[in-house]
Amino acid sequence: MVIRIIDAVNEQAPAGAKKLFVKSYGCQMNVYDGFRMAELLAPLGYTLADSADGADVVLLNTCHIREKADDKLFSDLGRFRRAAKEDAILAVGGCTGQALGAKVMEAAPSVSVVFGPQTYHRLPALIEKVQQGRIARAQGHKNAPIRAVDVDFPELEKFDRLPTPGAYGPTAFVTIQEGCDKFCTYCVVPYTRGAEISRPWQHVVAECEQLAAQGVREVTLLGQNVNAYENDGITLAGLCEKVGEIDGIARIRFTTSHPNNTGDDLIEAFATNPKLMPYFHLPVQAGSNRILQAMNRNHTVESYLATLEKVRAARPDIAISGDFIVGFPGETEEDFAATLAVAHQVQYVGAFSFAYSPRPGTPAAELPGQIDEITKKERLAALNVVLDDSLAAFCKKFDGHTVEVLVEGHGGRAEKFGQPQLRGRSLHNLPVNFTFGDADPLSLMGQLVNVRVTHTTAKALNGVLIQGL
Ligand code: 5AD
Ligand code: SF4
Repeated sequence: MVIRIIDAVNEQAPAGAKKLFVKSYGCQMNVYDGFRMAELLAPLGYTLADSADGADVVLLNTCHIREKADDKLFSDLGRFRRAAKEDAILAVGGCTGQALGAKVMEAAPSVSVVFGPQTYHRLPALIEKVQQGRIARAQGHKNAPIRAVDVDFPELEKFDRLPTPGAYGPTAFVTIQEGCDKFCTYCVVPYTRGAEISRPWQHVVAECEQLAAQGVREVTLLGQNVNAYENDGITLAGLCEKVGEIDGIARIRFTTSHPNNTGDDLIEAFATNPKLMPYFHLPVQAGSNRILQAMNRNHTVESYLATLEKVRAARPDIAISGDFIVGFPGETEEDFAATLAVAHQVQYVGAFSFAYSPRPGTPAAELPGQIDEITKKERLAALNVVLDDSLAAFCKKFDGHTVEVLVEGHGGRAEKFGQPQLRGRSLHNLPVNFTFGDADPLSLMGQLVNVRVTHTTAKALNGVLIQGL
């Protein structure tokens, strides 16, 4: 996702600003980090731009989770190098920066700065170092360093060094937990984001208060194992309660959870915390216990399904989402059929599915029985049919019903409906497009409104605003 021009960030930049382009790849935590990077550089005179054209600094906030994400980085680098100013500073951060470190510089001579997810608060110093080095070289100091790498793991330090977060609409992400101690055998996250840590709950609440004061109505609490959150005796359920008490916060979501960290208090919260949205992203990854064991998931299909049963008992209308990996080494047709069976049984809403990508340095990359790409593609397509069907069926349930929508912006396709539309999300996180009659669209932004659903698509709802409520 490319971060758009953000006036709120740019307001902090002094006149005569230099141009900054940030591209965040991958997960929502990277999107969160990308915004924080822009806010960090704004007081130093950098204005955020929505393209790399003529940029002074280009930040690539990368993802290392699958090979494709790495490939994209290297193809983008050449493009952005040509588009930016000739003396632009190209910086590679995020998980690929962390995982490959100085190797990124060897592979890409145009890159001047490499940093990781835990060191981006040091960006101003890293950029300064490159600039000083260039000046020194111009003055004849041939060996002055003009490149900088910082891939340390200073736990939690960055959160204490970042400026107050800006709000860019009625919804916001807040990182509450980072890193992972689970070591699933396919995954690079424990190596790139580091060990599991939770931010102090008071800091999280303060950040949510700052966002609410700027008009944010919905926060999504982020963590690689967000339901492993624990600080000073406060669990994720307790944190959701505290965030729910903040004036202005109407909706709370969280992602991504691990089946083994789904405590009874969290399940209970789905029943008792009215601000907690009925949407639960709980990855299963595979439907065969043999594969789950090879993945080191430390749960079984049965324990996963039992957790979901409890969640559904607490909140019967809850939408369950998840992640899947197909084509893990050794996955037989029978194993894959078990994955399809789980997908059928759970009836996911908006689940994510991936073809297994061997990552250097992870145990699964060395396993025998690697699956060929064609088989992986076929299995992915077959799984997606099931996942798409259950999403469409869930959407259909709302046909003719009234849903509560948080209005996020202008919707598209005015030509199709003969009238302009607004867009937002339902309680269950479904995108909703709706016409609004003679209501003032600007006054509806950031409001919770009721929409009567007039028809549904495979992944969204369409309707009309119910006025006067
Ligand atoms: N190959 C494919 N998908 C992966 N994921 C993590 N590592 C890999 C990999 N090596 C998926 C998992 C995880 C999501 C964020 O990415 O499904 O939940
Ligand atoms: Fe990766 Fe597994 Fe940790 Fe999730 S729980 S971040 S998949 S190692």
